[in-house]
Amino acid sequence: MKISILTLFPEMVEPFLNHSILKRAKDQNQVDYQIINFRDFSQNKHQTVDDTPYGGGAGMVLSIEPIYHALQSIQGVDEAHKILLSPQGNTYHQEQAKRLSNIDHLVLICGHYEGFDDRIRSLVDEEISIGDYVLTGGEIAAMAIVDSVVRLLPNVLGDQDSFINDSFYDGLLDYPQYTKPRIFNQMAVPEVLLSGHHKNIEDWRLEERLKRTKERRPDLYQKYINDKKNK
Ligand code: ADE
Repeated sequence: MKISILTLFPEMVEPFLNHSILKRAKDQNQVDYQIINFRDFSQNKHQTVDDTPYGGGAGMVLSIEPIYHALQSIQGVDEAHKILLSPQGNTYHQEQAKRLSNIDHLVLICGHYEGFDDRIRSLVDEEISIGDYVLTGGEIAAMAIVDSVVRLLPNVLGDQDSFINDSFYDGLLDYPQYTKPRIFNQMAVPEVLLSGHHKNIEDWRLEERLKRTKERRPDLYQKYINDKKNK
């Protein structure tokens, strides 16, 4: 997979890609990252990327030209899946992380201004928001997407089953986990986990996932039950 990131702050993005699992995925050639500063594609001598809004109003608006030319500089851009990060996009979920992890080339466009020239939307395949709150720019959103997608690529997580047990993977939250010590401040690890009885452990974990999802995320629980019924 190739991931191209268009940003005005490459120095924010770069260290993130050079640590932990994301770095390991690159070192294993599972993913190739390309960071593009779209200021380099500004068409004017002051290298500006924004301008005042037509019709008046406060703030600056990101221009289409530097984004357009930066996209044109990317090899294979026509076949790539281009995503604009914005609070106005569709809300991001694990389902979408799974979908994006099957795409060969993702292009993520991060804005850093009060708004975009609306025509930028015509250059992309979809617009994604990572939640109903406003960030100062799209970089953190892009990093959330890169992180959640790259960990799903084959062989990136050490244990192949690691993400099968993730919260949300099959629509339920994760089960409770414990490690040593067995008792801490009178809080004991559930007996069943010490039993060595795999079937009982498996049953207990599913029960806990259902219970936890019902309590904490009734919306997800209802969807899980409905999906089960319709299968
Ligand atoms: N840019 C600013 N806020 C954002 C959000 N919530 N999601 C994606 N991109 C953004």
